[in-house]
Order: sequence, then structure tokens, then C-alpha cells
Amino acid sequence: MTVHFIGAGPGAADLITLRGRDLIAACPVCLYAGSLVPEALLAHCPPDARIVNTAPLSLDEIMAEISAAHRAGHDVARLHSGDLSVWSAMGEQLRRLRAADIPYDVTPGVPAFAASAAALGTELTLPGVAQSLVLTRTSGRASTMPDDETLENFAATGATLAIHLSVHVLDDVVARLTPRYGAECPVAVVWRASWPDQRIVRATLGSVIDATGGERGRTALILVGHALGSKEFDESCLYAGDYDRRFRPVGTEPRFPEGTE
Ligand SMILES: C[S@@+](CC[C@H](N)C(=O)[O-])C[C@H]1O[C@@H](n2cnc3c(N)ncnc32)[C@H](O)[C@@H]1O
Repeated sequence: MTVHFIGAGPGAADLITLRGRDLIAACPVCLYAGSLVPEALLAHCPPDARIVNTAPLSLDEIMAEISAAHRAGHDVARLHSGDLSVWSAMGEQLRRLRAADIPYDVTPGVPAFAASAAALGTELTLPGVAQSLVLTRTSGRASTMPDDETLENFAATGATLAIHLSVHVLDDVVARLTPRYGAECPVAVVWRASWPDQRIVRATLGSVIDATGGERGRTALILVGHALGSKEFDESCLYAGDYDRRFRPVGTEPRFPEGTE
């Protein structure tokens, strides 16, 4: 018996890995975080599967479901939105599973930041503009931020920021980032990326409050940085005709002659 943690992706039911889909189809028990996991994914469950929405359950109640499946020898598909490596509450479940000696594995999923960038048709790292992406959030009722993980500190790097769980405090985000990025810095707010009701607002730090017109529905990502919409950036060396590299040796004395490892 194994608990399979599966990244369910950002919303569109076909943005799940083949491995994730096949595991759902093979498990007699499916526990899904109903607040964000698309119900259409449950169509992959076997016809007689036990399917439980864990949104209203406590951690103890979720563990009781898993323990019952363990006693019965039933594999569990455990679905969380996006990818499991960020803001999934997987860590505390894994700690309990290790303590109870219950086997588990993890299948990654498409995270919200990647779905949002895809919806925007944008690369978040552009040569000479931004080469780092910070996945962050602001303090919420359930989680406070460590002291040094402030928007101001991340802004000091000039990196592209993908700010989760924060659209309801957009005014505060704008006020804290404008001194470093400037009012002209591009911003995109993407609500429910990849869902049928996806909505995108492109603006600047100076205009985004008006541009969003008070829309603060929670499932949204705020992307901030000069890489968004920048037309002035260098081409990467990787595909430059004169760039000598292992997979495309150039010149009479290539750095990596053919046949070298
Ligand atoms: C609890 S976190 C889950 C993050 C998820 N594990 C991931 O990999 O993206 C929920 C937050 O992620 C963002 N989010 C999740 N799905 C989204 C989507 N489809 N479009 C935009 N933002 C989304 C929102 O900021 C939301 O408040």
C-alpha cells in the first residue's frame, strides 16, 4: 500500500502528468483538496473508488482516512493543486506518514506560476533583464512570513516576483514594491490560470489598482518585474551562430571536439 501524492496542476483537467492520471486510475481511494483541484480529474478514478474531498477535514481526519486505507491495503491517490513542492501542506502529511511507517511517493504537477506565465505567453527570465524568479507570498491568517522574507528584501534583487495568496492585499503589495521597481514596472494579475474563467490584467505598478477595478477573487497570481513584456533584452548566447558548445562545435578548434563527453 502506498500514498501517491500527485500534483493536480493549476486547473485545466488535461494539465496533469500521464503518471498522475494513471495513478488516479489505479487507486481505490482518492483524497483531493477540493478548494482548487478540478473535479473533472475525479473522472479518472475507478468506478467504485472511495472519493473524499479533504477541504473541510482536519489533518487528523485526513490521517484517519489514510490509516483506514492502509489497514485495508488500498493505495491512495492524494491530489493537491499545482505542484506539491510549494504551499501544498504536503510536508506535515509526510511527517505523519513517516512516523506511522506508511509508504508514499510524489508525482510533480504544473504549478500556478508556470500556468500563469503560459497564459501570458511570457518568459519570466530574460537575458540582461532578470535571471531569477522568486516564488513568494505575503502573510496570511494560517501562515506568517519569516522575518527576512519580505517583499522589500526580494525586490532589492530586481528579480521577477510571482506573488501567491496575496491578491486581496494588492494595494499593500504595490505600495511596498513601487519604491524599488518604479511605477512603470510591468505587472500582470492572472486569475484562475488555465480554468475556463481565466482572467488576465496587464498593467504597471502605477496602474494595476485601477486596472483590476476592485476584483480581488483569491485564486490569482501577481507577477511583477521588468521581464514581463520587455522588448529590450539580449539574445541568449545558447543559440548564437558563433557560440561554441558541446552540442554544436564551432570553428577549427572547438572547445568540445566531437566524441568528448
Ligand atoms: C495554496 S497555493 C497552491 C500553490 C500550488 N501548490 C502551485 O504549485 O501553484 C494557492 C495559491 O496559488 C495561486 N494559484 C493556484 N492556482 C492558480 C491558478 N490556476 N491561477 C492563478 N493562481 C493560482 C494563487 O495565488 C492561490 O492563492
